[in-house]
Amino acid sequence: MGKDKVQIFDTTLRDGEQVPGCKLDTEQKLVIAKRLDDLGVDVIEAGFPISSPGDFKSVHEISKLVKNATVCGLTRAVKKDIEVAAEAIKAAKKPRIHTGIGTSDSHIQFKFNSTREKIIERAVDAVAYAKTFVEDVEFYAEDAGRTDNEFLAQVCEAVIKAGATVLNIPDTTGYCLPEEYGAKMKYLKENVKGIDKAILSCHCHNDLGLATANSIAGVINGARQIECTINGIGERAGNTSLEEVVMILRQHPYLNLDTGINSKLLWDTSRMVSQKMGMPVQPNKAIVGANAFAHSSGIHQDGVIKQRETYEIIDPKDVGVNESSIVLTARSGRAALAYRAKKVGYELTKVQLDVVYENFLKFADQKKEILDEDIHQIVETSNISIQS
Ligand code: KIV
Ligand code: ZN
Repeated sequence: MGKDKVQIFDTTLRDGEQVPGCKLDTEQKLVIAKRLDDLGVDVIEAGFPISSPGDFKSVHEISKLVKNATVCGLTRAVKKDIEVAAEAIKAAKKPRIHTGIGTSDSHIQFKFNSTREKIIERAVDAVAYAKTFVEDVEFYAEDAGRTDNEFLAQVCEAVIKAGATVLNIPDTTGYCLPEEYGAKMKYLKENVKGIDKAILSCHCHNDLGLATANSIAGVINGARQIECTINGIGERAGNTSLEEVVMILRQHPYLNLDTGINSKLLWDTSRMVSQKMGMPVQPNKAIVGANAFAHSSGIHQDGVIKQRETYEIIDPKDVGVNESSIVLTARSGRAALAYRAKKVGYELTKVQLDVVYENFLKFADQKKEILDEDIHQIVETSNISIQS
């Protein structure tokens, strides 16, 4: 049986760029957009065109550049926003307007000083108006994570009737637990009339570190689009990480879900975005952190040298990393030292290794990490004769 496609909606250039201090200019955005298109994302959310002339220009230029992906512009449920977004994306091969409004009681009361009935009306009007410009209209129910499911279903039903092609169910505040978010998707699948005409989309924030888990729970329960960013960048604690959801679905084939992303470009894309945004990737970040394929303790190193799969669930080549690294520290054992010494040209016998290892430990206790140049010094200053 063929796998079900989960669309990847990348919002690095919109929700991701909302990170304080990470402003990108149009040139930088174009380079990232081109890479996202090469990576194989289905949708690029290029920006929020009404927000500034610079953002309008970026969305406009990206729309002209992108060859394969849908290009999407964000709007509020406001006519002027929708007109400006439609203008910005008009050159796109596949244009999409992403419009919406807050649906939780807290948003309705405090942001809009409104009522549920009036919010549904505004949602429907926005979708219907966006539909006069483009065929593909995505609706977001902001703060859906804290919106009562029955009301959320009413909103979804109404916007589908107005022509929405995608229903975005954002956990805007990163509050939901995976079970809860998954159950929300299941409820909508089972209770919204006409749901088969639209795709349910996960848009999760990471305030409790659950954005990826919630997105996966969403697709297990029927959603078929995930909104995410490279390196998980985004407001506050960030958004769902693109590289994480892609690799989770790939490493768990029994879920029968596939994204079609060219995972070999993940590592390089992560570095590119980090460098352009001036936002370092934490070393222990899943999939793309500097330590994601680095083994430093003796027991793990011994296992990985014998057979990679003992301590690795992903082949580093699959994400664009040549090979995993064996980091030499004072916690490393003889197997790791022999392995690294061989790589720099020393084939040590068992007796030689014992001697060099004693010397190595003295060095390693003084340094955080033993580098290739240190290995030369350690071997040369050990009391052994060596043919290198
Ligand atoms: O988190 C959120 O609710 C959003 C919407 C504007 C889609 O980013
Ligand atoms: Zn968001």
